[in-house]
Amino acid sequence: MSKDKILVTGGAGYIGSHACVALCEAGYQPVIFDNFSNSSPKVIDRVEQITKKGISLVEGDVLNFDQIMEVFRQHSIKGIMHFAGCKAVGESVQDPLSYYRINVTGSINVLDAMCHSGVDVLIFSSSATIFGDLNANPISESSTFSPKNPYGQTKRFVEEIMADLVASKANLNLATLRYFNPVGAHQTGLIGEDPKGIPQNLMPYLAQVAAGRLSKLEVFGHDYPTKDGTGIRDYIHVMDVADAHVAALEYLLSEGGYLAINIGTGQGISVLELIHAFERAAGRSIPWDFGPRRDGDVAEYYADPSLAEQKLGWRAKRGIDTICTDMWRWQINNPLGY
Ligand code: UFG
Repeated sequence: MSKDKILVTGGAGYIGSHACVALCEAGYQPVIFDNFSNSSPKVIDRVEQITKKGISLVEGDVLNFDQIMEVFRQHSIKGIMHFAGCKAVGESVQDPLSYYRINVTGSINVLDAMCHSGVDVLIFSSSATIFGDLNANPISESSTFSPKNPYGQTKRFVEEIMADLVASKANLNLATLRYFNPVGAHQTGLIGEDPKGIPQNLMPYLAQVAAGRLSKLEVFGHDYPTKDGTGIRDYIHVMDVADAHVAALEYLLSEGGYLAINIGTGQGISVLELIHAFERAAGRSIPWDFGPRRDGDVAEYYADPSLAEQKLGWRAKRGIDTICTDMWRWQINNPLGY
């Protein structure tokens, strides 16, 4: 079995930590690079508990080029998964400069350090939000870019920088994966999403209402042109997202090239359908009410996942009931997060 070392920036974060588990399962050694600005050092112990392997950590910031280079000095790195960055849409509207600095400059630093170190494989954590609301569903890779906020812009810019870089250096192998709505937690309930303060996204909010930590869910809008009037999204299990990274890594290591791929299930689920699935998983009813639409929300958004299957041989394996069961296990085992 391969023991190649893979640098995982933001490896203590929500998606990064699940990717570390998937890497270990596939026989790779993750080396986490994280500054714990939006994550807990406890994640490292939890990943070690799940994988029964020691996990290497280099504490550092993607804004500090020398700290990134330190990873390459300490470890013989075969490839990179770059997750480190900020991800709150509302915060990006309030503080765009921080988002451009951390997400764009941070990514340039990682790409630059990669080139200096002779590593030629990198997978970037992008978002379906780059497509905005101009496209018909399902959203394929040929859809038009039209991000609606600074967060989405940062992802789009980094994708374009990567494409320019590949065009300038033929020996680089890069992939950008645009996730739809990653949710759920590892099946052990040991790692999961741990938002600071009141959650801004549906799934963690729902879980905290089910646990009694928040009193009631507000459903944003009831008159969208959808099957039940509520917003429709493509919720994908975070371990399916993690598995997609391993599939992309293996593709780049064997075939090489440049890949831009949408990562979703292809299935649209409404807010009410998600509430009902969560009620089944938790075995309790969840208080909710209709409220007004949230500014900037689109009615319906789901992926065309066919290119991922064709190129990577990957497709989402876990359905909405597994997602809710795993999310609930994480919530009840860690009522206050890490
Ligand atoms: N919703 C509610 N009540 C809530 C929270 C959300 O009804 O308390 C609804 C929203 O209106 C929407 C759906 O639940 O219809 C999903 O909302 P989320 O906030 O969970 O997710 P979004 O689709 O708005 O955004 C997410 C991430 C973004 C990412 C985008 C990519 O938050 O960072 O997916 O598609 F860019």
